[in-house]
Amino acid sequence: MAIQRRVKSIEQAIAETEEPDRRLKRDLRAVDLISFGIGVIIGTGIFVLTGQQAAVNAGPAVTISFLLAGITCAFAALCYAELASSVPVAGSAYTYTYATLGELAAWVIGWDLLLELMLGAAVVARGWSAYLQTLFDLPSWLAGTQASPDWSAAAIVAALTAMLLFGAKDAGRFTGALVVVKVAVVFIVIVVGARYIDTANYSPFIPPAERVPVESADVLRQPIVQAFLGVEPTVYGVYGILAAASVVFFAYIGFDIVATTAEETKNPQRDVPRGILGSLAICTLLYMAVAATITGMVPYQELNDADPLAQAFVTLGVTWAAKLIALGAVVGITTVILVLMLGQSRVLFAMARDRLLPERLARVNRHGAPSTITVVIGLGVALLAAFVPLSELSELVSIGTLFAFTVVCIAVPVLRRTQPNLRRPFHTPWVPVVPILGVATCVWLMLNLPVETWLRFVVWMAIGLVIYVAYGRRHSRLVPGGPSAPAPEPRETGR
Ligand code: ALA
Repeated sequence: MAIQRRVKSIEQAIAETEEPDRRLKRDLRAVDLISFGIGVIIGTGIFVLTGQQAAVNAGPAVTISFLLAGITCAFAALCYAELASSVPVAGSAYTYTYATLGELAAWVIGWDLLLELMLGAAVVARGWSAYLQTLFDLPSWLAGTQASPDWSAAAIVAALTAMLLFGAKDAGRFTGALVVVKVAVVFIVIVVGARYIDTANYSPFIPPAERVPVESADVLRQPIVQAFLGVEPTVYGVYGILAAASVVFFAYIGFDIVATTAEETKNPQRDVPRGILGSLAICTLLYMAVAATITGMVPYQELNDADPLAQAFVTLGVTWAAKLIALGAVVGITTVILVLMLGQSRVLFAMARDRLLPERLARVNRHGAPSTITVVIGLGVALLAAFVPLSELSELVSIGTLFAFTVVCIAVPVLRRTQPNLRRPFHTPWVPVVPILGVATCVWLMLNLPVETWLRFVVWMAIGLVIYVAYGRRHSRLVPGGPSAPAPEPRETGR
């Protein structure tokens, strides 16, 4: 059976946002979006991965890893900005793909985004619980890595789900308040930490590459590119910087979620590009400053901790700063979970509106929030966070996100060709150079992720394809005879 390609027109996608019952409230502005962006970007990545990657992969050059990951994100962000300004519809990458590459590819992306958003929210909720335990010395049955079920992680997810039922605007206000605290704490790390920098710790800035002893090398943990090329596994050196860039990429995840709220933004054409690019630029600068500070404070070998930022201050006897950082982490990570779940609900909402998922999921409540979807997501994330040991799955979140970025970069030149006259309030500069660089850098980071991450990714995508063939393909709005099916071609009369 040949699968016919179904592409949804942009006009149709925008018209469907006006359907009563399935219309989101439009009251977000640029400042809400930048706050959402920073709210979701700064989280476990900077609080945990900076130190760990300096210790195990890159040394002080982890600052360069952050720069490389930031540049990769910038290429993707420029592509997101063009698509989000021209197609301001909830669903982000999923919707752009529907309009450019067709329904099957759109489903693949929608399914893939579950990894970024839902699994991401659960991974981050687990990290939140670990910091909460440190901050308040909670018993290990209640919070932290040993807790099973992890009651604290499940409780924070439940509380945030309740908040999301009141619509995006309240979530925006809450995020805005917590973002101020979080950014203040990051500044304190930079400003106070700078006084303790010992330049001797920067030498060597790029530690020489070291071979990983063959007996301790696990092929499943090796970057897939090294495993394929049969390269001997090493850490540090230039490859170490690249491997660290793939891991710290996790810290940038989230700026793309700003695009999922385009449909709820008053002036999406102007404000969504500002939200995406503004939050990414601010976070890149903060990350590089934190990485440079922390690796200057203590020798990089001492940073392999669950809470390296706080530990660096403890090592130097500045315990008040360590407590403050733990508080900043708890506060900061709360907004990450919130915005990831918000983004997830908007993507599933768009998929349900297109009937690739049951359409009744797309009903909105009187606050303008898709309530059924929000509750389903809350339950899913809470169960995952409570019962599944998630620490190793952050790389699965990254590969899912990088895959979505790749497709978005491809969608920009495709849409320029198929819809040359579409109004594009924001233009990605230097097309096709920027999209090509975006694809190349995202694929490169994916290739530097471990073999086991790729295996999990392939299994996940295969499950998604089965669900599409069994359900979405048959129920889609674009199914022949469905509400949005393309008009039949006029019949040839034979004359
Ligand atoms: N970027 C987010 C974090 O680092 C997902 O927690």
